Amino acid sequence: EKGGYDYFMLKEIAEQPKAVADTLLGRIDAGGSLRLDEVRIGASELREVDKVVIVACGTAFHAGLIAKYAIEHWTRIPCEVELASEFRYRDPIMDQQTLVVAISQSGETMDTLMALRHAREQGARVLAICNTNGSTIPRESDAVLYTHAGPEVAVASTKAFLTQLVACYLVALYLGQVRGTKWGDEIRAVIRDLSQISGAVERVLETMEPVRELARSLAAKNTVLFLGRHVGYPVALEGALKLKELAYMHAEGFAAGELKHGPIALIEDDLPVVVVVPSPRGRSVLHDKIVSNIQEIRARGARTIVIAEEGDEAVVPYADHLIRIPATPTLLQPLVATVPLQVFACELATARGNEVDQPRNLAKSVTVE
Ligand code: M6R
Repeated sequence: EKGGYDYFMLKEIAEQPKAVADTLLGRIDAGGSLRLDEVRIGASELREVDKVVIVACGTAFHAGLIAKYAIEHWTRIPCEVELASEFRYRDPIMDQQTLVVAISQSGETMDTLMALRHAREQGARVLAICNTNGSTIPRESDAVLYTHAGPEVAVASTKAFLTQLVACYLVALYLGQVRGTKWGDEIRAVIRDLSQISGAVERVLETMEPVRELARSLAAKNTVLFLGRHVGYPVALEGALKLKELAYMHAEGFAAGELKHGPIALIEDDLPVVVVVPSPRGRSVLHDKIVSNIQEIRARGARTIVIAEEGDEAVVPYADHLIRIPATPTLLQPLVATVPLQVFACELATARGNEVDQPRNLAKSVTVE
């Protein structure tokens, strides 16, 4: 059942190109436009949405953080992302024009379920992004967009995360498509890029041996930090979460721009710091700023592990370890940048003798508040 892999997690990491392709299947028409009729919220209602609120937990929350960048950019609708466990306790402001998106692999997470019940009580419309057919969260939502990752058994979420991202991009692009924004051409181009992205994930998977080797060499470390900017910031948070739950190591993700406001004091000799570098072609200002961050932390002794696009030569002098990912449009980069972090955490867990599929103290689906 593990298909020849030692762990479900390894199998599920390897299944990601297919999971991504399956989640796109039938949702892009021959003319390159999105078809999301299954969502069953009419175009006129979607045009009236004036706020999007995303609620989720853990890895699904990180997918939501990335979705915010895509939704606000392509639709110009304000988007908030909130931990489901915090949401209803702060008396959030919602009405009929609020679209609440609840993201959940299992569809049974109690915190997320309670948040969506609260949203519906306030009159908001709820769209679930879910991987489990007929589970409670989609049943209690107004509409659902299923991710097609197939069953995810390992407690640490991998392929479900990538498909949640795909679903979030689909929602963002679809909202842009039905509402019409100045980004029409970009939206069409990104839909084309999205339809190619499964091949890019495949290529990342083919180059992971050096990442495994690096992970093994760090097995005796206590702390690893992760830095990112823009959509790379939630990727950094996801890399840190994977390491906590699998390797039981102290791991933290930071927005790279926040370094100078405190966390840089943590940098000490030989501390591994993973940096997710944005594309030099897209938001090049951010790229240049992150290259100076890498320089700064390296000057203070950090061991820099740099994840950067193929062809990005500016990072080479400051990278102790360089992990290459294929060039993608800026907003889609998390689909390729997350993969090495999953492999890294899985290999570190193995090297430390931890149970990969069943980390201590954790359950696959958290059905208590
Ligand atoms: O089933 P859900 O997507 O609602 O689960 C949410 C979190 O419990 C889940 O993503 C958790 O953080 C994972 N173990 C992370 O790998």
